[in-house]
Amino acid sequence: MRIVANPGLGARLLDVDLARELDGPDFDALLAGLGRHGVLHAPGQAMDAAQLAALGARLGTLEVNVANKYHAPGIPEVMILSNKRDAEGRALGLGDAGQGWHTDMSYSADIALANILHAKEVPLRDGVALGSTQFLDMHAAAAELPEEIATRIRGRRALHDFEKFWDMVRKRPGSERGPLTAEQRAKKPPVWQPMLRRHPITGREVLYCNPGYATVIEGLEKPESDALLAFLFRHQTQTKYLYAHSWSAGDVLMWDNIGTIHNAVADYSEAEPRYILRVQVMADRYTEALAA
Ligand code: SIN
Repeated sequence: MRIVANPGLGARLLDVDLARELDGPDFDALLAGLGRHGVLHAPGQAMDAAQLAALGARLGTLEVNVANKYHAPGIPEVMILSNKRDAEGRALGLGDAGQGWHTDMSYSADIALANILHAKEVPLRDGVALGSTQFLDMHAAAAELPEEIATRIRGRRALHDFEKFWDMVRKRPGSERGPLTAEQRAKKPPVWQPMLRRHPITGREVLYCNPGYATVIEGLEKPESDALLAFLFRHQTQTKYLYAHSWSAGDVLMWDNIGTIHNAVADYSEAEPRYILRVQVMADRYTEALAA
């Protein structure tokens, strides 16, 4: 296996068959590469849902969304992201996942380490792939914060709220999402997260704050909190931190959910099918390091 770094965020994983179990040194290199490069792209893979789940499970516990009806048959850990429908018009997958800058699970006390997606079908228009996934480098964003801002947020927490992202997505034209029910809301109460935290793999500081879920900063009056969050959201979404992944069928894309934020670009229509398998790996192997 070879890891070939991009100039900025991201790297390609070459000479590897992820359907087979990686040996110890390759697995260690993959884990270190995930922290160091943020996004790992392995082209030309052919994995079934069970193989994808097996790869994810080596990194940590896989999240199972109990309400998720869109999963691979018999494997609830593998979610289907898709805009496709069956002959009766029923959705085959979650069609609007991740459309806005966010970090998966930052709204949860137990956070996510990584996502692994495997593209089976990619929307094409005039031969050009649509539905890219964009990433921003939160190691670099933290390192380049003005010192005065870093000092203000170091040791401080921000409140992350599932409902913020949900409402943003559901207000879009054509969204089939309703408002969260009281029961759904009760299952996902807002949680406090450190705004700067030490990455458990790299040991370096990352900006753990994102426009999708962060709502207020602890201990600040609302105008000051709003202004500081607006600054951070502008800072972290600068194009110098960006890697945009243009998908091909067969790609496996693995990303670090602590050192990056991401956005799924919704620039394709229902007539342009997208079908992707996804597992989400929790950071449960790193609970102690994250608490430090
Ligand atoms: C996600 O946020 O996990 C979805 C990414 C994508 O579909 O490109």
